[in-house]
Amino acid sequence: MSKILVTGGTGYIGSHTVVELMEEGFEVVIIDNLSNSELEVLDGITAITGKEPHFEKVDLRDRELVIKVFEKHPDIQSIIHFAAFKAVGESVDKPLAYYENNLLSLIHLLEAMKQFKIAHLVFSSSCTVYGEPDSLPVDESAPIKKANSPYGNTKQICEEILQDTLESSPELGVISLRYFNPIGAHPSSKIGELPIGVPNNLVPFVTQTAAGIRERLNVFGDNYNTPDGSAVRDYINVVDLARAHIVAIRRLLANKQKTAFEVFNLGTGKGYSVLEIIHAFEKATGQKINFKVVDRREGDVEQVYADTAYANRELGWKAEKGIEETLLSAWNWEKNTRSKKNRS
Ligand code: NAD
Ligand code: UFG
Repeated sequence: MSKILVTGGTGYIGSHTVVELMEEGFEVVIIDNLSNSELEVLDGITAITGKEPHFEKVDLRDRELVIKVFEKHPDIQSIIHFAAFKAVGESVDKPLAYYENNLLSLIHLLEAMKQFKIAHLVFSSSCTVYGEPDSLPVDESAPIKKANSPYGNTKQICEEILQDTLESSPELGVISLRYFNPIGAHPSSKIGELPIGVPNNLVPFVTQTAAGIRERLNVFGDNYNTPDGSAVRDYINVVDLARAHIVAIRRLLANKQKTAFEVFNLGTGKGYSVLEIIHAFEKATGQKINFKVVDRREGDVEQVYADTAYANRELGWKAEKGIEETLLSAWNWEKNTRSKKNRS
């Protein structure tokens, strides 16, 4: 069975994807520097799959160490590249750290791919590349708007680097997956999202509020032009998202791409407002959320949700899990980990 390199494989989306890959029989090598994840994630992966992935604690900014991983595993066939810094607000304060990490990591991987003749890459992109879309739902042909954060800009630049590299390397095939808002956890509650410090994202903040770690959830704005005034996003279950990566890898391995650089939106096609998420969480879990409406958060778009028709048709993949099941999985994960973690 093929050996797949997963960068950022102990991170949130990476760990769920590693589980799906291993359950499909792929052999997995993880590269992660543990800058935003913990080694014990490997225990969760092993507990679910009954097998241990190879793990290399390597910083992708270190070109020599990256090369050593490929020398150690000369049979790597394909790469899924998750590793990146991803906090939008932090990227505004530390733009150079974001450009250095997110761009150098990709460049080093592409160099190694050339040297070791690896032809397939799946890249983690984001719906942030669309900015505030002109029309909804957003399909893959929507224009790329000027990024509203250095983080978003790294995703745009990475996609450009990939396209430029493909121009001179016809043997390469790349699939860029533009995620909407991944949430939830594996149904076993053995892996999930582990935000360090105060969560930026809505759902971890909701679960930590329900758990009593946070006193109150701030709802950022209720005066948007949406049905209830709060902002709308397309929340996709992380296991559904992980499964799309298996489909993408199989598409590359089978040379089924239509063009060397393919882009797919990964969402559910349905938008939920912040207030709808709170109410769906309360319904799914029986927990009350203490919340207050405050000012809008700078840089937020009003609403964005995916046109999933192309991904559904071309990949034969569809997000299947409903919002309540997904929010319940996030809550079960929170309950399972909160006693062990210092989340102050
Ligand atoms: P995460 O932070 O949980 O996982 C990223 C992993 O990469 C972490 O384990 C971190 O330690 C590792 N890492 C970072 N820099 C590294 C480096 N230089 N060398 C080695 N390892 C490094 O993030 P996630 O939510 O799983 O996101 C995965 C990818 O998906 C990222 O590229 C992110 O930008 C993208 N994405 C995430 C979201 C989201 O909402 N979570 C949405 C759209 C796109
Ligand atoms: N929100 C609140 N209160 C909070 C946190 C969030 O009201 O405490 C609101 C936000 O204002 C937004 C919605 O909940 O309207 C979702 O916010 P998130 O921070 O969870 O997600 P974003 O849509 O801002 O961004 C996320 C990731 C990005 C990624 C993007 C698209 O953080 O990295 O999804 O995939 F690029």
